[in-house]
Amino acid sequence: MTKPLMAYVNNGFVPLDEAYVHIEDRGFQFADGVYEVVACFGGAYLDLEPHLQRLQRSCEAIAIDLPKSLDELQALVQQAYAKNPFDDAMVYIQVTRGVAPRSHIVKQKLAPTLVITVRELPKPSDEKLQAGATGITLPDIRWKHCEIKSIALLASVMGKQEAVKQGVDETFWLDTQNHVLEGCATNIFAVIDGKLVTHPLDHQVLGGITRDMVLAAAKSVNIEIQEREWSLDEVGVTECMMSSTTNAVLPVCYINQQPIGNGKPGAVSQKLRNILLQQLEDLRQSCA
Ligand SMILES: Cc1ncc(COP(=O)(O)O)c(C=O)c1O
Repeated sequence: MTKPLMAYVNNGFVPLDEAYVHIEDRGFQFADGVYEVVACFGGAYLDLEPHLQRLQRSCEAIAIDLPKSLDELQALVQQAYAKNPFDDAMVYIQVTRGVAPRSHIVKQKLAPTLVITVRELPKPSDEKLQAGATGITLPDIRWKHCEIKSIALLASVMGKQEAVKQGVDETFWLDTQNHVLEGCATNIFAVIDGKLVTHPLDHQVLGGITRDMVLAAAKSVNIEIQEREWSLDEVGVTECMMSSTTNAVLPVCYINQQPIGNGKPGAVSQKLRNILLQQLEDLRQSCA
């Protein structure tokens, strides 16, 4: 094909080389989007309708409004193919939540980003067909590497959305035994029998830089630290607090509408917050 490939981006077709989305597109920053790939043979689509219906279901599941009706999408897919008429083609359709200043929570309704591209459908070689395909097995790691600060944050976005829906600040993830792991964008600590307890660093939690600061602050004032599994219904929980670069450390006083301790910021949380705030102030002064 001599003509340049054409891509649909939001409201029109452009040459593929000139097809861009904004750097604050949530697909780029959070993997906050969904997609479909449809095969097309000589202009005839393989199950286009079920693909588009699944796209709609995927959008609904993460509360993105499909920017076009299914009929309009079907027409756009046909236009995209007409501009890139490979004998055997695969049409890629991606919808993201849209462009917004980077934050897990989206405060305003966004215009979703819609991208459609068409490529030649790859065919297995004759050798591959003769020899057959090969494979390996791995334990299922999808997505079980929370220690990696990955941009694949769709689950965190969904957790934050649920928090907003329920009028709270953060969602905290539990493991299958109800141990508290961390928040969508925070680490969490409890004060249990006067000790500062937090989940140990493993694949289930991000090693927060602020988490380290909180632990160091606790050590500096002789608060005993336990990095171990813990749960909210454990006897002796009097305080909770969450830490992150953006919040330093903040007392968490209610979880699932239940008060933690007396439901007020506790002495340990406040002490640790004051230490961290002083460190930030010292940092500011060091530059003055
Ligand atoms: C899942 C998760 N845990 C913990 C944190 C806190 O990390 P830090 O203290 O380095 O900001 C974040 C921050 O984005 C996070 O996304």
